[in-house]
Amino acid sequence: MVIAIDGPAGAGKGTIAKMVAERLNLVYIDTGAMYRCIALEALREDIVNDKDKIIEMSKKINIKLSEDGKTFLNGEDVSEEIRSKEVTSVVSPISSIVPVREELVSIQRSIAEGKNVIMEGRDITTVVFPNADYKFYLDASVEERTRRRVEQNKEKGIFSSYEDIKQSIIDRDYNDMHKEVGALKRTNEQIYINSTNMGKEEVVNFILEKIGEVK
Ligand code: DC
Repeated sequence: MVIAIDGPAGAGKGTIAKMVAERLNLVYIDTGAMYRCIALEALREDIVNDKDKIIEMSKKINIKLSEDGKTFLNGEDVSEEIRSKEVTSVVSPISSIVPVREELVSIQRSIAEGKNVIMEGRDITTVVFPNADYKFYLDASVEERTRRRVEQNKEKGIFSSYEDIKQSIIDRDYNDMHKEVGALKRTNEQIYINSTNMGKEEVVNFILEKIGEVK
């Protein structure tokens, strides 16, 4: 079984997908973490503006997502580092490079092979698994997504300005929705969830109901 979830930055896809994975015993796959690994490595190698070098690097690096939700880049645990402000600010343009997407999409399909998975990102319902058993688009207002991100940061002890975060979300969404390949899109086949006024449990239960796990 494949459950695919797409949606804009900060909509809670990761949190919700992890909770559904736990309830249904599915493997959770965070595809954004994979694009973030490419961005982190590009920063480390100082090649952020060199498309050809990024493409070459994306073919060589080893990305592993562990069952307990950690992300490994060439064997190193980078779960925290890929969430940094620096990575967040360069990841969207890097994820627009078509050969990088081709590389990662092929890895994403192979990780899911023979497993029951819940995969989240921007192009899962449209490109990676257009024939997924269940397709969702998880949304929330930009103000609510900003508020949640500021709260998350606060919990981690990071101070961030509401306006900065809001602008960064708006910019990333614009770029993610206007990519040549793998753009974030709403389609008639997705089940649309606007979680602006919904709690986490409520969203999880809505998904479980839609897939027939809760009557
Ligand atoms: O979900 P996230 O915010 O961690 O994703 C980071 C970036 O990666 C996001 O700005 C767009 C890109 N991305 C993508 O292009 N395709 C995906 N399937 C997942 C993420």
